[in-house]
Amino acid sequence: MDEYKAPVATTPTPTPGGNTSGAGETNGWLYTVITLSLLVLVIILWRANQGLKRVANEKEGIPTEKEIPLYRSKLVIAVVAIVIFIMAGYWLVNGAVNEGRQQNYQPLQPIFYSHKVHAGINQINCLYCHAGAEKSRQAMIPSTNICMNCHKQINTYSGEGEHPLVTAEGKNINGTEQIQALYRYAGWDPVKKDYNRDAAGNILATPIQWVKIHNLPDHVYFNHSQHVKVGQVQCQRCHGDIQEMDEVYQFAPLSMGWCINCHRQTEVQFTNNKYYDIFETYHKEIKEGKRTGVTEAEMGGTECQKCHY
Ligand code: HEC
Ligand code: HEC
Ligand code: HEC
Ligand code: HEC
Ligand code: HEC
Repeated sequence: MDEYKAPVATTPTPTPGGNTSGAGETNGWLYTVITLSLLVLVIILWRANQGLKRVANEKEGIPTEKEIPLYRSKLVIAVVAIVIFIMAGYWLVNGAVNEGRQQNYQPLQPIFYSHKVHAGINQINCLYCHAGAEKSRQAMIPSTNICMNCHKQINTYSGEGEHPLVTAEGKNINGTEQIQALYRYAGWDPVKKDYNRDAAGNILATPIQWVKIHNLPDHVYFNHSQHVKVGQVQCQRCHGDIQEMDEVYQFAPLSMGWCINCHRQTEVQFTNNKYYDIFETYHKEIKEGKRTGVTEAEMGGTECQKCHY
């Protein structure tokens, strides 16, 4: 641990408690303070009202009942107990259900690599880097030499004017420095225009340790090619507008309900598809006009063993 040098040294680390709290949070505090002070005011006015009533009653000679203090009133105790029970139950159940999920997770990556610059502004196809998405279960993260296919030539970032790079915490990023960081990982010498090698001729490269963002539990089987190639589902439906993101975050909850809901709502490419020829009843119903399409759920997309094997 002592000898470990963080690879994030090239990107400025966010300062905890920096300018991360947005305007929304400040407003939240303001509302809480206002609500609490109004509540106190209500209690004071209520007590004053009670006092005035008692004085008025004494004047007219009506005997007043002995007053029970607020904290011993059965009604107050019951209401408070029920509210605490409901709130605690809600937090407990909600917390347990969301255990291990990480929607909106946006870790700091070792290189500030922007999807907006690559897939958005420069229109590089997702599959150029995530070639597995069409062919296999894993979409895959590209290896460093795929970056170097382009970056042997592109050694500066010239887009600062039209698209300045800024982290989620508001820190400015120098794109050219980030490309230099890529060179250090790749073992590329931009002056020599060649890779640095050891005596035996091996390239002196270190892998870029990208932080994995999406993590389904091991008991779930998810296959990209089933969705991207067969189902023709757009990447953006599950990952959001990646081509607009400088730093990727987890867009979908990756909960079981999220998978199932989409299977219930999405129709498969049913006609002219040999794979589905055997479903004679559905084909007959479509021919007779009894149904317009077949959803993934009707193909078995809600059967437990399709996702849990
Ligand atoms: C030039 C290469 C490149 C292109 C093009 C590219 N990506 Fe990526 N993608 C990466 C790299 C490198 C990472 C890992 C670093 C990161 O998360 O930002 C990544 C990460 C991701 C992740 C998060 C993976 C995780 O850790 O869970 C998703 C989702 C993703 N890309 C989707 C897309 C989509 C959708 C497109 C097309 C709109 C696209 N990518 C285009 C290189 C690329
Ligand atoms: C039906 C929803 C869905 C679609 C469509 C989809 N993905 Fe994913 N993607 C996921 C899920 C779920 C994971 C997490 C997989 C895991 O943890 O095993 C994931 C993970 C990834 C990862 C992380 C590496 C990996 O393979 O686990 C990348 C990169 C990625 N997707 C890119 C893409 C790209 C590019 C496309 C479009 C060509 C795409 N995805 C289409 C749901 C989807
Ligand atoms: C198909 C070509 C291509 C590939 C592959 C590619 N890049 Fe780029 N990269 C570009 C272009 C084009 C720019 C923008 C240059 C400019 O605007 O001057 C760029 C800019 C950058 C920048 C500066 C802007 C930013 O995003 O911070 C970094 C860093 C970068 N690339 C890293 C990478 C990494 C890491 C990979 C591999 C995962 C990669 N690139 C793969 C073409 C590519
Ligand atoms: C955006 C919609 C969408 C989401 C979200 C989605 N799927 Fe799917 N899924 C589809 C479609 C469409 C198909 C049908 C592909 C085809 O045409 O055969 C499919 C097919 C499947 C199949 C193949 C079923 C069969 O009949 O062989 C499995 C397994 C599967 N999905 C698992 C998952 C899991 C696990 C998740 C969540 C992590 C998920 N899917 C999320 C749309 C989705
Ligand atoms: C379309 C895919 C899909 C189908 C079909 C499916 N599951 Fe799941 N299941 C998931 C995913 C994804 C998770 C992980 C949820 C998470 O991490 O919160 C999960 C999680 C679970 C868990 C763990 C509890 C939890 O919330 O994490 C259980 C138990 C479970 N599923 C049972 C079932 C049963 C029983 C069925 C059949 C009635 C079923 N699943 C059908 C995708 C599916």
